[in-house]
Amino acid sequence: MTAENQPTQRKILVTSALPYANGDIHIGHLLEYVQTDIWVRFQKSRGHQCFYVCADDTHGTPVMLRAEKEGKTPEAFIQESQAAHEKDFKDALIGFDNYYTTHSQESKELTQSIYLKLKEAGHISSKRINQLYDPEKNMFLPDRFVQGTCPKCKSEDQYGDNCDNCGATYTTTELINPKSAVSGATPITKESEHFFFDLKGFEGFLRDWLSSETLEGTPHVQPEVQNKMNEWLDDLRQWDISRDAPYFGWEIPGEKDKYFYVWLDAPIGYMASFKNLCDKRDDINFDDYWGKDSDAEVYHFIGKDIIYFHTLFWPSVLKGAGYRTPSAVWAHGFVTVNGNKMSKSKGTFIKARTYLEHFRPEFLRYYYAAKLSSRIDDFDLNLEDFVQRVNSDLVGKLVNIASRCAGFITKQFDGKLSDTIIEPELMSEFTEASETLAEHYENRDFGRAVKHIMALADKANAYIANEEPWKLVKNDETKERAHQVCSLGINMFKALTTYLAPVLPELAGKVQDFLKLDTLNWASAQEVLSGHEINKFKPMMQRIDMKQVEAMIEDSKEDLQEEAKLDAPQLDDPIKDEIEFGDFDKIDLRIAKIAKAEHVEGADKLLKLQLDLGQGVTKQVFAGIKSAYNPEDLEGKLTVMVANLAPRKMRFGMSEGMVLAAGPGGKDLWIMNPDEGAQPGMRVK
Ligand code: 2FM
Ligand code: ZN
Repeated sequence: MTAENQPTQRKILVTSALPYANGDIHIGHLLEYVQTDIWVRFQKSRGHQCFYVCADDTHGTPVMLRAEKEGKTPEAFIQESQAAHEKDFKDALIGFDNYYTTHSQESKELTQSIYLKLKEAGHISSKRINQLYDPEKNMFLPDRFVQGTCPKCKSEDQYGDNCDNCGATYTTTELINPKSAVSGATPITKESEHFFFDLKGFEGFLRDWLSSETLEGTPHVQPEVQNKMNEWLDDLRQWDISRDAPYFGWEIPGEKDKYFYVWLDAPIGYMASFKNLCDKRDDINFDDYWGKDSDAEVYHFIGKDIIYFHTLFWPSVLKGAGYRTPSAVWAHGFVTVNGNKMSKSKGTFIKARTYLEHFRPEFLRYYYAAKLSSRIDDFDLNLEDFVQRVNSDLVGKLVNIASRCAGFITKQFDGKLSDTIIEPELMSEFTEASETLAEHYENRDFGRAVKHIMALADKANAYIANEEPWKLVKNDETKERAHQVCSLGINMFKALTTYLAPVLPELAGKVQDFLKLDTLNWASAQEVLSGHEINKFKPMMQRIDMKQVEAMIEDSKEDLQEEAKLDAPQLDDPIKDEIEFGDFDKIDLRIAKIAKAEHVEGADKLLKLQLDLGQGVTKQVFAGIKSAYNPEDLEGKLTVMVANLAPRKMRFGMSEGMVLAAGPGGKDLWIMNPDEGAQPGMRVK
């Protein structure tokens, strides 16, 4: 590439949505991180200054309650989940330049200062509002922590403000028989002062932003999103940005027991993570990227469910606080698996970790890339198609080119490529694809890029199959042609891997080693190797099969059972580890009549009981129930005993079983009484 057509270096900052700290990364998340990562790697390979930052989204009621349930401080809890998230991302080859947390000093300072700037500029107001309150737990309840009967269809156990059954929306106060999901208490309505951001005041700005373009000439949002935003802009409301204590988040300066709602500080987390990166390096400056007059580009990749936050609130908050606004916000659709919503019971709710235990990250990255476009349609991960494409495209087409040619170069031609390019026209088809492919990548039309690259791979394979170097090599006269054919093959392979490097960075690294190259960036596709020495070829990718998919689905089902246990309400005195029926069946429980009960001399806690099991069978049992019962009150009563407990020699005599009692102890102890009709000796089962 000549100096004239070298693109000038752009300054680009890219983010993906911050994952919540209280959830595992799953393949649905990965669509977004893979999409963003491919775009970022592409920009970097073009030589631009491009940074990709992200962070854990750590604040809010769900995180606070989850930590409490696990008996941890929120700080300890979020630290653990950040470590798990970072590992998942690393193993999925997501190359963040910085991965941080919203529970950081930078986030606190930026959030509070942005709020104060908004307040000073008159964009914040306050008013008293009514909200549901848990009188046992002493906290206000977010919608998703209130459960009740749908006011429309009367379906029970509906959450918050919409019904899963009939789709109706309502306010939590309309729910019939509402219960707090935190304590089970019936919520009361309580008044409290809340702080509001004046979104309505930004209508003019938002309309301009929506209808204008970036400096680079692209719209700020996708066409589908424009329509949605136009509807929203007709009905903007004040945005409630405060929550009452107890809350895990940042306190609102100058107020008592008031916290910023997590959705205020979440996107500020993008800035905070970047600030943290700037502080670690001395070649980048925060204001160059976020200052009002910044000439850098800032892009947010998000899911379609959070468009409102990113296209209305976020640009307005930035504008109101005197920062630059995003160049663009790019949304994607949801992941479905085999045409259906990801389902925990079907095992298609697949965690990143579970996927990574079964497959290489690049297979999913490739599949996602092959089907992604810049639109916001939902994305179907069809698992059979996944297996088929990986095998046919990556193993059967791409890597096949190298594995067919490399052996001959090593064994027959001293590991050196030929000096001549035998089919320059064919080769230029590969080098000249560069700009079209770059355009597809730039426009996030990865599917089109992959299709084009695979069409070239087909050409390369057809050429090799037609030339049959394995035959040419056998004959002295044609041996040099075999050298040239295989060298061309290797060069075509190199161009294709270069183009696919943003999608398959690990493979690109292996190819770089194999070809003994110092760098492999976008421009490398233009360099045709001749007389160049290469390394011995090592297998780069193996075929996969449906059995592996099935195993992954099975593992995802198991995950669910573990999780369901964690999420279910817990007793303070937790239920013991599960046993099999056979274990239970070993215990012989019988109805027994307390024939005699007496004090035991020298024993503080024990009563001596003679238990009659009928048919002349009696058992003597020492029971620790003296604090709760007088012997005379027990005589003649029926109770339940463990009849086959191994006899135990006690200081006062043999104890040949146990009676069952409940309660914490002391006066609060109650022995079991069977219902009327039960007879001594009957088995309890
Ligand atoms: O929806 C979510 O998963 C949020 N945690 C995304 C936050 S993105 C940004 F605004 F921080
Ligand atoms: Zn309903």
